[in-house]
Amino acid sequence: MSKVIGIEGLVKPWIIALGGYVASKAPDALEGKMEVATKDVIKLDANENPYGCSPRVQRALAECSSINIYPDAEQVELRKMLSEYVGARPECIAAGNGSDELIGYIMRSFVGPGDEVINCVPTFDIFRHRTQLCGGTLVEVPRNEDYMVDVAAVKAAITPRTRLIPLATPNNPTGTKIPLEDILEIVETGVPVLVDEAYVEFNGETVVPLASKYDNMMVLRTFSKWAGLAGMRIGYGIFPPQIADYVMKIKEPYNVNIAAQIAVRESLKDLEYLRNNVKTIVAERDRLFAELSQLSFLKPYPSWANFVFCSVLKGNAYEIQQRLERKGILIRYFNIPLLQNALRFGVGKPEHTDVMIRVLKQIEKELDDK
Ligand SMILES: Cc1ncc(COP(=O)(O)O)c(C=O)c1O
Repeated sequence: MSKVIGIEGLVKPWIIALGGYVASKAPDALEGKMEVATKDVIKLDANENPYGCSPRVQRALAECSSINIYPDAEQVELRKMLSEYVGARPECIAAGNGSDELIGYIMRSFVGPGDEVINCVPTFDIFRHRTQLCGGTLVEVPRNEDYMVDVAAVKAAITPRTRLIPLATPNNPTGTKIPLEDILEIVETGVPVLVDEAYVEFNGETVVPLASKYDNMMVLRTFSKWAGLAGMRIGYGIFPPQIADYVMKIKEPYNVNIAAQIAVRESLKDLEYLRNNVKTIVAERDRLFAELSQLSFLKPYPSWANFVFCSVLKGNAYEIQQRLERKGILIRYFNIPLLQNALRFGVGKPEHTDVMIRVLKQIEKELDDK
């Protein structure tokens, strides 16, 4: 060989070009930067559940005596429990270390260098990240001014290289949902469609009863939001059976750990408790929306999830986020070409809304005085 290539020269070009995924910050990482102690942080930046998990989960985990044993790689009991909960056959189900992991497996199954993924932006950034990770090409179809999916534009963007269309409904970060007929119109093109229903429990509209009718429709769910298990990492998908087989074949063997499997079992035994928390969060979301609507510098968009997305009409989203962060209130800001000057507020407990609105009212006053 005449040319010596450094190790980086051997890394796949699409990995070198990959832009990382920006995850939410752990409160511990902000210690010393806030005016409050870490334990008093109000964390509204990752759409987590402020009421936590079912107390049954905590009790069962404290009593678990099988941590030295690998979990069931075939997920037999887990798939059965999920199948009863969701109303689909166990052979159509596969569970993941969060639904994020399953998005990666679906991408790997369908997408390689030169293949196209149609992404209805702005949307959940993992869709971009996992496409690029597979060396795929993103074909971005912008949503309209109300952040609704432009179905005609999606259909027009389909080419012989299109391999996947991920659709988040409700969408993160905008909170908008996609009407059922729009989803089906896209599914009927025959292109594989991944319907991400991470927030379905906060609005109830699902395509799952139709999943068995289409061999190109896949649905993702998670326990992170409604069941308060974000830290446990447990998501699942309802797939055509042959796709579920591929996911089971390519997944990390023990991807769903013992604790997560126990957490699912106990959560499903405590549905009334968890659904009550969901109801409380939905009521608080509507109050948060009403409160944010009163602020002249923000424009909130109606949400079907557990967060409210706002355009910033006056002032700077980053500065507002930083100001709240110093007070120990964590939210997400967006300042990218597709989402300029915008904020996303997770729904917390009523007392969290009150504290946050008080700071936002102070900011409004200062902006008015400028
Ligand atoms: C649309 C969407 N899909 C998937 C996820 C990831 O969920 P999980 O915690 O199960 O990986 C999120 C998390 O924020 C999300 O917003």
